[in-house]
Amino acid sequence: MNKIPVIIDCDPGHDDAIALILAFASEKLDVKAVTVTGGNQTLAKTLCNAKKILAFIGKRPPLAAGADKPMFRELETAAEVHGESGLDGAALPETGYSEEPFPAVDLMRRVIAGNPQPVTLIPTGPLTNLGILFTTYPEVKKNIARVSLMGGGIEAGNWSAAAEFNIGVDPEAAEIVFASGVPITMCPLDVTHKALMTPSDLETLRKRGGRVSAWAAKLIDFYFQYYIRQGFAGAPMHDPCAVAWLIAPEIFKTADYSVAIETRGRHTAGMTLADRRIWSRAKPNATVCLDIDRPAFIRLIIDACKSYG
Ligand code: RIB
Ligand code: CA
Repeated sequence: MNKIPVIIDCDPGHDDAIALILAFASEKLDVKAVTVTGGNQTLAKTLCNAKKILAFIGKRPPLAAGADKPMFRELETAAEVHGESGLDGAALPETGYSEEPFPAVDLMRRVIAGNPQPVTLIPTGPLTNLGILFTTYPEVKKNIARVSLMGGGIEAGNWSAAAEFNIGVDPEAAEIVFASGVPITMCPLDVTHKALMTPSDLETLRKRGGRVSAWAAKLIDFYFQYYIRQGFAGAPMHDPCAVAWLIAPEIFKTADYSVAIETRGRHTAGMTLADRRIWSRAKPNATVCLDIDRPAFIRLIIDACKSYG
C-alpha cells in the first residue's frame, strides 16, 4: 500500500501525544519527521515532551525544534489544561534523544524537497512553523500535498469567545497558511468537541492492556480533569482528528468553505470566519470537518494504543 508521507508539527500537549501514537501506529502513514513549536507550553517543554513520547513509543524520527514564539506576538501557553510540564499526569523518563542541530523549517524543507512524492503536513499546535516555512521557502509549497490541521472554530472559540487556541496564539501564521493555496483539511472545535473520549472509553482503553494503553489512559485522565470542570462529558481528542482524517476520512462529515483568519480584531483576533452563505462566490480554501463517527474514531485510538504491545 502506498503510505502517505507526513510531517507532524506539534506542541505536546496531551492530545498531541495521542495524535503521535495514532500516526505512528497507522499502516497508512509514513512519518518522515516531527517538528515542535511553542504552544501548550514553552518550546523547551514541548520539545522535551516530544522526545519523551517518541522514545516511549519506540520511535526516533528526525526531530527539530521550531518557533519559541509566534511570528509577531508573544507566546501564550495553556498550563491550566496541560500542566506546568505540558504533559502532567503521566510522567515519562528522560531520553538520550537529540534533536537536529538546525531549526524545524529547515528539517521540513529538506524532507519536502527531498521526497519523491508530495508530503502532507499535520500541524497540531500554533501554525508558526508553517507560517515561517511558507514565507522563507515558498517553493516547497509545490511538493506539499495537503495540510491536515487541528485548529479554529466555526461557531465559537475556546481561547477566547472568537478564537481557538492554535489559531489565536498565532493568527498571522494561520493567515499565511490559509492564504497559501495549499489544500487544507481543517479540524475545528466544531468536530473536536464531538470527538470525546468518555470515562467508559477510558475503561476500555485500560482493559485492552499494554504499556502504551496504560500510559495513555493515565495521560487522558489528567487532561480530562480540566474538561470535567468545563462541563464536558468526555476528553476532546482535538489533535488526533487531524491524523484520523488522513487515516479514515469516511468517519468525518465535511463541508468546503472559504475560511478567513481575523488578525486585527480587538475582540476577534484569531477567529476563523467561514463564508457559509449559500450564495457566496468565494472560492473554498478548506475542507472543514464538522461531524464525526465518534465510536469509530475512539476505536482507532484504542486500537492504535494497543498495537504497541
Ligand atoms: O484548542 C485545542 C488545541 O490547543 C489542541 O491542539 C491542544 O493541544 C492545544 O494545542
Ligand atoms: Ca496541540
